[in-house]
Amino acid sequence: TRPFFLDCDTGIDDALALAYLLGAGANLVGIGSVSGNTSAAQGALNTQNLLALSGHAGIPVALGHHDAQARPYGGGAPHVHGNNGIGEVQLPDAGLELAPESAPEMLVRLARAHAGELRVIAIGPLTNIAAALRLDPELPSLVRELTIMGGAALAPGNITAAAEANIHNDPEAAAEVFAADWEIVLVPLDVTMNHVLEEHDLQTLAASEAPAVQAVAAMLGYYFDFYKSVFGRRCSVMHDPLAAAIAIGKVRPTSAPYARVVVDATDGPGRGQTICDLRGRYKGHPKPDGAHCRVVLAATEDAIGEIVRGTLALADAS
Ligand code: BDR
Ligand code: CA
Repeated sequence: TRPFFLDCDTGIDDALALAYLLGAGANLVGIGSVSGNTSAAQGALNTQNLLALSGHAGIPVALGHHDAQARPYGGGAPHVHGNNGIGEVQLPDAGLELAPESAPEMLVRLARAHAGELRVIAIGPLTNIAAALRLDPELPSLVRELTIMGGAALAPGNITAAAEANIHNDPEAAAEVFAADWEIVLVPLDVTMNHVLEEHDLQTLAASEAPAVQAVAAMLGYYFDFYKSVFGRRCSVMHDPLAAAIAIGKVRPTSAPYARVVVDATDGPGRGQTICDLRGRYKGHPKPDGAHCRVVLAATEDAIGEIVRGTLALADAS
């Protein structure tokens, strides 16, 4: 089955994405941790403990970069994801060892071991991915596809007017990643903000007998409280799980034009913006010369159903 490398900043929606990927039977051959929602070290611990609770302790987790490429780690997003990144939920400490290599090293090694086959799912800031590119400039030709949750094409940002969190946390790294010549599928706020998990979905997850699914449901309660300030009701948007479902082919983009994507890494008000050249849309989206990034603007409506079903399957999978 297709091998996947996941790079994440676990993170409540990262935790759900991980539970979903495991439940959906994705072949995760390695996981990297990067600072974003919480520190890289805390995110790695969250990932390891959730893996153990899911019966997947054997998937190796590698620690990645703590600081962004050009700036120190900004302290995460405790108001969204809690002080420990997972909504103050205390997972049983599995005491797992980290991999003996860094996350960028692991990505490079796996890309060589699965040359032409490895698919990468990046649902945190792109610091580790850019570092891997520097370690091995041939990486883009080795990786089959890179799916990134991040950015805002035509939609407003969620950190500044122009920028989405993952890209804004490390615009220098993101600029390098988008400039490299690999097949990228970008899953930006334009589509993730339209896929909302509702209270009844949360209750469905909470009713699972699988401890890992129950833990993720408890985390989501915290996330729901934050999103009340955005939408006026308890719910949450599915940034990372949607990217995961698209990456493994379970949710189909219904609009995904190729576009040249440039990241603003200046110090101005556009810092962290993903400038997506979608001017071809009036002519039915012809592929601009040199474009290697598909920007997902819409996806099939039942993405939430797929995410809930896949996550619930974790009970059987573990
Ligand atoms: C992204 O930022 C993080 O808060 C989420 O985990 C997601 O990856 C959304 O902007
Ligand atoms: Ca994330």
